[in-house]
Formats: sequence, C-alpha cells, structure tokens
Amino acid sequence: MGRDLADVLISEEAIRARLAEIAAEVDAEYAGKDLLLVGVLKGAVMVMADFARALHGPAEMDWMAVSSYGSGTKSSGVVRILKDLDRDVLGRHVLIVEDIIDSGLTLSWLVANLRSRGAASVEVMALLRKPEAAKVAVDVKHVGFDIPNAFVVGYGLDFDERFRNLRVVGTLAEHVYSS
Ligand code: PRP
Repeated sequence: MGRDLADVLISEEAIRARLAEIAAEVDAEYAGKDLLLVGVLKGAVMVMADFARALHGPAEMDWMAVSSYGSGTKSSGVVRILKDLDRDVLGRHVLIVEDIIDSGLTLSWLVANLRSRGAASVEVMALLRKPEAAKVAVDVKHVGFDIPNAFVVGYGLDFDERFRNLRVVGTLAEHVYSS
C-alpha cells in the first residue's frame, strides 16, 4: 500500500502526539462534565478510537452516519441522516469527532442539528482541516492539523473506500487514479 502514496503528509507519530495534546485540553475543559463524543462514520473511526483512548476522563461514544444528497452534490450542504444517534443528546455536552473538514458543510449542518436537539453544548474536534476549501465558517474548537487543499487518504480517509486503514495521512500516487 505504501507504493500507492505520493507523499506522507502526517506521520503516525505526529498524529499520536497531536491527539495526546488535544486530549489533555479536552480533559481539562470537560472536567466534572458529562462528555459525549459523537463520531461521524466512517472516516472518524480511527481518530475516535485513538482520541477516546488518549483521554483520561470519562467519555461516552455515539455515532452518526450522514451523507450529502447525491454523490455529485457533496457541496450542496443538504445532509441526509443514514444512521442516527442511539441516545438522546438533550442536556449532554457533545464533542463531535471528525476526520476532516473540507467545505465545512457537513459539520455546519451537524452542529446546528445537534444544537436543535437541546444538547447542553456542541463543540467540534477534527483531525484535519483544509482552510482553502472552506465554503462556510464552522467554529471548531480543536483542530489537529491544517492541510493544503489536496486529496488525502489514510487514517480513516478513503479513495473509493480504499486506504482508510493506512496509519498515516498522505496523498495518492498518480497511478492509483488511472488504474
Ligand atoms: C467526509 C468527512 C466529513 C465530510 C467533510 O465524509 O468524514 O464528514 O466528508 O466534508 P465537508 O466539510 O465538505 O462537508 P464522507 O462523506 O467522505 O464519508 P466517509 O466519512 O464515510 O468517508
């Protein structure tokens, strides 16, 4: 799989170190509060697994799967819930855990949706953010890394469902697109 990467943008060690830093901040912010981590399937699986284990304080986990209407209209901002949360978020302190913020449209919709359900607070933690791709501003409390506006895979992120299980974040070699 290594041959399929053109560049490694973020190493396994860098991801681990940054998640530990963010986890320490989150531990301090939510001390004495009832923290609910909400992961967005499927990309956030890896960051959720590692981030949740880097926390020292208690945290529950729940999951949503969302999709933009139609594959070609990803930037429409119209989001469909494919899998909803298992539990009510009323009165809960929610921290959304995302792998990447691209246009910001998914997250902007999700934050509004969870606030409308009566969560006590809704904040965002995202491993990656592409500032140049932003279409809407989203107030993100914790960002792992700001990256260039390039197509990236690994650590949860896919190309046609492949490469999610890479331990690093990288860009794909040309031959992968043409094969
Ligand atoms: C990715 C990512 C975010 C969203 C970000 O999910 O996990 O949820 O896109 O894009 P945006 O900022 O432009 O809205 P994707 O729809 O690719 O699904 P996946 O996590 O199952 O791969």
